[in-house]
Amino acid sequence: MARIAYVNGRYVTGDLAAVSIEDRGYQFADGVYEVIWVQQGKPVDLERHFDRLDCSLDSLNIPWPMSRRALGVVVGEVLRRNFTRNGHVYIQATRGAARRNHLVPEGTAPSLVVTASREGPRDAAIQDQGVGVITIPDIRWKRCDIKSIALLPNILGKQKASREKAFDAWQVNGHDIITEGTTTNAWIVDEKDEVITHPANHHILSGITRRVVMELAEEGGLQVTERPFTVAEARAASEAFMTSTTNYVVPVVSIDGHKVGDGRPGPVTRGLYERYLAHVTGE
Ligand code: PDD
Repeated sequence: MARIAYVNGRYVTGDLAAVSIEDRGYQFADGVYEVIWVQQGKPVDLERHFDRLDCSLDSLNIPWPMSRRALGVVVGEVLRRNFTRNGHVYIQATRGAARRNHLVPEGTAPSLVVTASREGPRDAAIQDQGVGVITIPDIRWKRCDIKSIALLPNILGKQKASREKAFDAWQVNGHDIITEGTTTNAWIVDEKDEVITHPANHHILSGITRRVVMELAEEGGLQVTERPFTVAEARAASEAFMTSTTNYVVPVVSIDGHKVGDGRPGPVTRGLYERYLAHVTGE
């Protein structure tokens, strides 16, 4: 069955879904996006994602392509037309189509694309065995808090990880600090079960999953600390994990081939995964 996308005011089949070659998203990566998990046909944490979209659009001075309420309706309609029960919805808003010029054209209407993808059951081995990550230099810009569609460093990092048979690459800044993964936020757990993740500043994307997991951890009586941590600290941690909308909570059992803890997913990570799963499924 052909997938249906929303593109600038119309619902069209995937083969006809297209934006102008002068779209500034295509030419300059002048746009932002959101990925929202869909469970039983319902977007999870939609309002939080819309809040972040609002921050990203505002940082780029791009107006909302339509009202927040209307976008909620479009998201629901795309899910309905694609019969999406479990999967994710992708929203991309760009500054719009205009004759190529670095100077931001005035009065250009933003472009909006909304698509949906179905996803099958999760790979249980990931939770049972955990995954490995490599570290790479963080070569990104100084506004990683904006969910920009300019993702080249992340793509190169993810490719390198894949070549080295790792799940993801954790990015390391000039001070030996792990900022985040290429598509995930990075976390460690110390010997006192304190859960540590990089502060939500300009150096990372403030993940929605990160925020929810922080809240769930605190509800569960864990101490959560937002502070930078080094590669050496991560290697010496008792547990490590990463979070994102599409991956939930993933145990990290090796960093650059060095075992984390005993090399198996630990109890804190497992507990947080269970709590997050309950949050998503509403059970
Ligand atoms: N990636 N950090 C980066 C660089 C990301 O790209 C993502 C999400 C996250 C986690 O954010 P959240 O919990 O809101 O998904 C952190 C999405 C899923 C993607 O690009 O597909």
